[in-house]
Amino acid sequence: METVVSNTTAQNIVQDFLPLQGTDYVEFYVGNAKQAAHFYKTAFGFQSLAYAGPETGMKDRASYAVRQNKLTFVFTTPLRSGNTMADHVYQHGDGVKMLALKVDNATDAWQQTTGRGAKSYSEPVSMKDDFGELIMSGIHTYGETIHLFIERKNYNGVFMPGYRKWESHYNPSETGLLYVDHCVGNVGWNQMNPWVKFYEEVMGFRNILTFDDNDISTEYSALMSKVMSNGNGFVKFPINEPAEGKKKSQVEEYLDYYDGEGCQHVALATNNIVQTVTDLQNRGIEFLKVPTSYYDELIDRVGQIEEDINPLKELGILVDRDEEGYLLQIFTKPVEDRPTLFFEIIQRKGAKSFGKGNFKALFEAIEREQELRGNL
Ligand code: FE2
Repeated sequence: METVVSNTTAQNIVQDFLPLQGTDYVEFYVGNAKQAAHFYKTAFGFQSLAYAGPETGMKDRASYAVRQNKLTFVFTTPLRSGNTMADHVYQHGDGVKMLALKVDNATDAWQQTTGRGAKSYSEPVSMKDDFGELIMSGIHTYGETIHLFIERKNYNGVFMPGYRKWESHYNPSETGLLYVDHCVGNVGWNQMNPWVKFYEEVMGFRNILTFDDNDISTEYSALMSKVMSNGNGFVKFPINEPAEGKKKSQVEEYLDYYDGEGCQHVALATNNIVQTVTDLQNRGIEFLKVPTSYYDELIDRVGQIEEDINPLKELGILVDRDEEGYLLQIFTKPVEDRPTLFFEIIQRKGAKSFGKGNFKALFEAIEREQELRGNL
């Protein structure tokens, strides 16, 4: 039988109607932006970049932008109650609000996506200051999460209009984090495929990998996942939904505590995972641990790797291999009190996949944590 390629898929292959240059920044809505920024500087090695608040004309909020290599995080907090930003923090706790994508033309990005059915968050807006013009637009995605399109080719200020340079006498060293590798969304029961369709049809992404509940199921809990990638592969959004298991899925626990769909983890790339994770651990970041027996069969499973096994074992770094190479990865525990957002640290050595061979060991580690919280 012939393979049938749908019109939409064929069209996406020939022309990328939404060319993305990568992740521009990730903005978190938090209860206390000053302290959050301090934590990300201290624990993750981000550097002070820019500040916006009442002193810069932003009356309703305070925002702190921090940077490390190509990674830019923004922490924003409302200054008063009774507005959508304050309600967001009340409902969801600290979490990812904006996944901002860098584009050459934010007006075209908005027209292309809203023309294909995206719900507009913001029409293209021109923002100007002494350093030029930045154009921003935005659309809604899962939950209350937003994709902003950022066009900064005519802007050379430190971050964006409305912000001033943030200079601090406290500048902890970097930890070797380089860029966003991927951002994972957790969506509700039976919502994975509708969101896959959204990324295909509205944003021109392709489904590059699929994991069903046979791939991702432990004795108790399960999830399903599809990895969506844009045309040039710079932006990858895996989408998870819970699956039925003997006990509560980790995705369900997230949905309960985030009180809705949202970003589950952001994967941060490094070129030296042993050094980065050693550094992060010394600064107080807590990682999920797999049993040391994981390392007994490691070489049989993944073959020879360049790294020594002992430091990997000590730190709890996981390894997986695909047809193109291997990858090393590790996951933090949630970085706030709600069991919601966490980070992945990843080093790719050729592999373009997501560590399927680690799912079982990893999810058993997550379940042990869920059990401690009484949520399994
Ligand atoms: Fe991941």
